[in-house]
This record gives sequence, C-alpha cells and structure tokens, in this order.
Amino acid sequence: FHVDWDIVTAEKAGFDHFMLKEIYEQPKAYRDTMGSRIASDGNSVTLNELTITPEAIRKISRVHIVACGTAYHAGMVGKYVIEKMARIPVETDVASEYRYRSPIITKDTLVIVVSQSGETADTLAALREAKRCGAHVLAITNVVGSSVAREANDIITTWAGPEIAVASTKAYTSQLIAFYLLGLHLAQTLGTQTAGQITEVITALKELPTQVEEILGQAEALKVVAEEMAKHDNLFFIGRGLDYAVALEGSLKLKEISYIHSEAYPAGELKHGTLALIEDGIPVIALATQHDLLEKTVSNIKEVKARGANVLGIAVEGELELQKSVDSTFVIPKTLDVLSSALAVIPLQLLSYYASLARGNDVDKPRNLAKSVTVE
Ligand code: G6P
Repeated sequence: FHVDWDIVTAEKAGFDHFMLKEIYEQPKAYRDTMGSRIASDGNSVTLNELTITPEAIRKISRVHIVACGTAYHAGMVGKYVIEKMARIPVETDVASEYRYRSPIITKDTLVIVVSQSGETADTLAALREAKRCGAHVLAITNVVGSSVAREANDIITTWAGPEIAVASTKAYTSQLIAFYLLGLHLAQTLGTQTAGQITEVITALKELPTQVEEILGQAEALKVVAEEMAKHDNLFFIGRGLDYAVALEGSLKLKEISYIHSEAYPAGELKHGTLALIEDGIPVIALATQHDLLEKTVSNIKEVKARGANVLGIAVEGELELQKSVDSTFVIPKTLDVLSSALAVIPLQLLSYYASLARGNDVDKPRNLAKSVTVE
C-alpha cells in the first residue's frame, strides 16, 4: 500500500504552487486583516493596538514610509492613501537609500516601516535610525514577534498568514488593507474626512474580498494572455497616480518569476524618453482605474498604440471609453478610486504566475532571490 503524499504537497492544499495558493488566499487575508478593526456599525475603524495618542497624531508634521521590494511598493500606495485621506505630507523611501541619506527626522515625524518578514536588514536599520532621531515608529508586519515588531513603538499586524513563495502576493495586498485602515484612523482623528466619507470608504473596503473572488474566477482568461506575453522579452506597464504605484508592483512581480524584462512608467512621463522603446507588437499593460486621470491615460495609450504597441487595459467595469482605445481589456469590479489598487494588482499577479509557468521557471523559488534578505 503506497500513498503518494508528502508534506510540501499537503501544504499546497491542492494548488500546483505556493504562489497560486497564496493568490487565492487573498480574500481571506483581506477579511482577517480588516477583522474587528472595523466597528460593527461600519462607520469607523478602531486600531486599538496603537499606543500613539490623538494628541501625538495631531502633532505629526510628516510621514516617512520605509521598506524594501514589494513592501516598498505597498508603501507607494500608502503615500497616496494617507495624503488623500489625512492630508499629511508623506515620503516613501527604499530602506537601503533612506538609512544612508541623513533623512530629516524629527519628533513630529511618523516613520512607518513595512515588512512582511519583519527581518529585512535594511528595513530594521532604518527603523533603528528613525528611533535614534526620536521619531515614533509604526511597523506594518506579517510576523508577530519579528525583530521589526519587537523594536517598533507601534504595530499593525497584517493577518495574511505564512507566505512561502518568494514572490509576495497576499502579504502585499494585506499591507494595502493596513494602509487603508491607518488612513481612515488618521482621518478620523484629524477630522480631514466627513463621517459620510469615512462610512463610504469602509463600505467599499468591506466589498473588496468578494470582488477579489470575482477576479480570481476569471483566471483562465489571464492564462491565455500570459502565454502570449511569455513569448516577449520586453514589456511595459503604464499608469498614473495609484495606478503607477500598482504598475511598479506588477512589473516587479513579472521580473521576479518570469524573468521578462519590464519597466513601469508613469504614463505622462513616457514621452520624455521611454516612448523611443515602443515598437511594433511590444506588449504594454495600461492601468486605468483612476477616474480623474482616465482621459489623460487614454491619450497616453493612444501614443503607444500609434507606435504599434499591443495594449492590455486594466479597466473598471463600465469604462467603455477606455475599452475602445486598447487591444484587449481585463475588467475589475467597481470600487472607490482610492481602494482600486487592492483589485488592480490581482490580474497582474496572475499574469506573472502564468507567464512564469509558460516559460518553465521555478515559480516559487526564482533564481538568485531569497524570501527574506537578512544581510546587507
Ligand atoms: C525580498 C523578497 C521580497 C520582499 C522583500 C522585502 O526581496 O523576495 O518579496 O518584498 O524582500 O521583504 P520584507 O519581509 O521586508 O517585506
């Protein structure tokens, strides 16, 4: 009697790879990270774990977000979210740059470090430098009891559960949820959003897990697109505002596991150089989820189309104008512009996964990369 079974197969719970399993765990990760942090009446958030007082929040003059890799890209989204909701100036930095550039940190600076593992050497060093300068340090991390969690003044734990694949998926999106909650918490304290606006964001936030499930239900369509993409050696992602932040993450994901060279560009910056690289047949993924910027993004799409690019648009349900200007479209469900990143990134994760598969790569353990970088 022989059972073809091993512990790794069991841990993958029927999925071919940890990455795919973790992509499908995102609805749960969103729900768990929101958890009891949203009041039952749906009108406010309660981050009871935070020790920073309302008085100290009112004194914050600037926010620095510091992280590496995918966590840095979550921090890019965090910048837009906090500035929009709480109207505090935010800078986002890569930890290995921040720690060596003598950043201007005062007692009124809130430093947010973002780290899935809580063990990344550069992020930990940046945290220590910020504390030395007297800043209040808030960590967004997925590992309770990690070095970052132990040394920070405050922690928002993301409840994504263990992430095994080197390419981060559910940890990134849980970090986005943490930023939405933090943005709301700051806005509530500072009075920068009306009660009605806060309820509107919370209502939309609670819909995200089901909307992610809807996107995951269309994975097969993305597989077909990815198999075509996998034949190319170069690819571009474009977007404006929050879409640019998501474009950066989509491009990193693709590089990490498919080894296809790609660049993410702010769509309006294309004509200052990168447009020279657009030739016949080159794939361009255009993110266009921001309503105020839609017209501008469409005009950038026309610029690349005119040079022969093959454009896949990531569009919000009902945006027919965009659909007319691209070669193919992947539609995501309707949400508020400020929350769209938590949906727009899902098709990009799946495209990377299927492109990596099509190229025969080791999806979960890409060459040269480690899950956690604990050396400089
Ligand atoms: C490595 C991983 C990335 C991760 C980065 C930061 O490069 O491969 O997926 O985003 O480290 O890791 P952290 O644990 O600090 O979020």
